[in-house]
Amino acid sequence: MDRILIRGGNRLSGRIAISGAKNSALTLMPCALLTDEPLTLRNLPRLADVDSFGHLLNQFGVSTTIEGGRPSDFGRVMTMRGQQLTSTVAPYDIVRKMRASILVLGPLVGRAGEATVSLPGGCAIGNRPIDLHLKALEAIGAEIELAAGYVKAVAPKINGVGRLTGGRFSFPVVSVGATENVLMAAVTAKGGTILENAAREPEIVDLCNLLVAMGASISGIGTETLEIEGRDRLHGAMYRVMPDRIEAGSYACAAAITGGSLDLVGASAHDMRATLDALIEAGVSVEERKDAIRVSADGPLKPLTLSTAPFPGFATDMQAQFMAMLLKADGASVLTETIFENRYMHVPELARMGAHIDVRGRTAVVHGNASLVGAPVMATDLRASMSLILAGLAAEGRTEVNRVYHLDRGYERLEEKLQGVGADIERLGDG
Ligand code: EPZ
Repeated sequence: MDRILIRGGNRLSGRIAISGAKNSALTLMPCALLTDEPLTLRNLPRLADVDSFGHLLNQFGVSTTIEGGRPSDFGRVMTMRGQQLTSTVAPYDIVRKMRASILVLGPLVGRAGEATVSLPGGCAIGNRPIDLHLKALEAIGAEIELAAGYVKAVAPKINGVGRLTGGRFSFPVVSVGATENVLMAAVTAKGGTILENAAREPEIVDLCNLLVAMGASISGIGTETLEIEGRDRLHGAMYRVMPDRIEAGSYACAAAITGGSLDLVGASAHDMRATLDALIEAGVSVEERKDAIRVSADGPLKPLTLSTAPFPGFATDMQAQFMAMLLKADGASVLTETIFENRYMHVPELARMGAHIDVRGRTAVVHGNASLVGAPVMATDLRASMSLILAGLAAEGRTEVNRVYHLDRGYERLEEKLQGVGADIERLGDG
């Protein structure tokens, strides 16, 4: 397994190109199931999860071809075509490797009238139930059956063809994935659908924009109430994936923790407002320029009190990275994780580098002015891994991050991008 070695202490300076958003790509790709015409996505990030999703789509008879990107695209261009679906089953051995596979459930039952998907297990940050996905699909006509570790969704027959009816569902808890799944099912339902308390994350907006480009009828995009008019069929489209707001936020923390200055090229300030506001409150300067956001830490960092929340609140996917950064703040910060029940796996690893963090339930008190010392540490989940990288950039001496396959799921060419702005970082082969 690869490891990443960092010798800390360098101030980062320069430009980092922000890749296409992982959490958008993973909900845009299953839209290829909704049409028999080609769907071309540009600016796809080069990530393990994107490759895995391509293999999953191949299972259903969707062809996937990678084309050369344009100079303006940092990412890849992939054309997918599900002219004739040959299966509606997502097998355990693929789903267990990538939880986002559950996002084929909605489009499959929307297109083919039925879908059988292995239940995704939990993961390091929580047990990740899918009850809201299933309740929302039932509300628009799907019959749900759970058996032998699989979930089967079947649409009622209308004129002999399986077709969802449409309906109304109010989410008791904001759920990004459940909103995405039911959206991709509702767009080809017989009737209309109203979703209340829907997720408003930028990735949902990206998904709605793609579906509209494919001929869907959706109003209320960007709000918590979405109204969808079902269409008999959708057509193909060409669409550019939005920039990754979490990757950009992670590198902003790298500038802050090393006292450096980075231009985040292609980042969208609108998608990152809560992150940028928190950085400014911590004393970091943020300049929104034409093609980039410039983040510079030219003074001491101030401690913060932050709670994670659904968009437009402070993103849970930024919590671990801010925790690392706040270790260098001039005082104690208080972080509260309200979304996932076990998202402090980075704490014991940061402690091995000299951090002093007290966790009580969902709240972590992060003591500042830490003198971090490099150490061998273990990545446990995607964003926790990034917090270890950030701490390593500021630590004295060598930090060796193990199990970096976690990182490769969400950060494209991480060590190259950091080397390019002055970090002393390299990837080592099998340890
Ligand atoms: C998406 O996960 C993201 N993943 C996560 O990013 C992100 O942290 C999360 O949204 C919140 O923003 C992708 O987009 C691939 P949720 P998702 O459904 O959809 C509970 C990363 O690091 N819930 O919004 O699984 C759930 O347990 C990853 O890039 C139910 O109870 O998140 C959680 O407490 C990590 N029942 C809360 O809702 C359900 O049916 C929010 O989960 C679904 C969710």
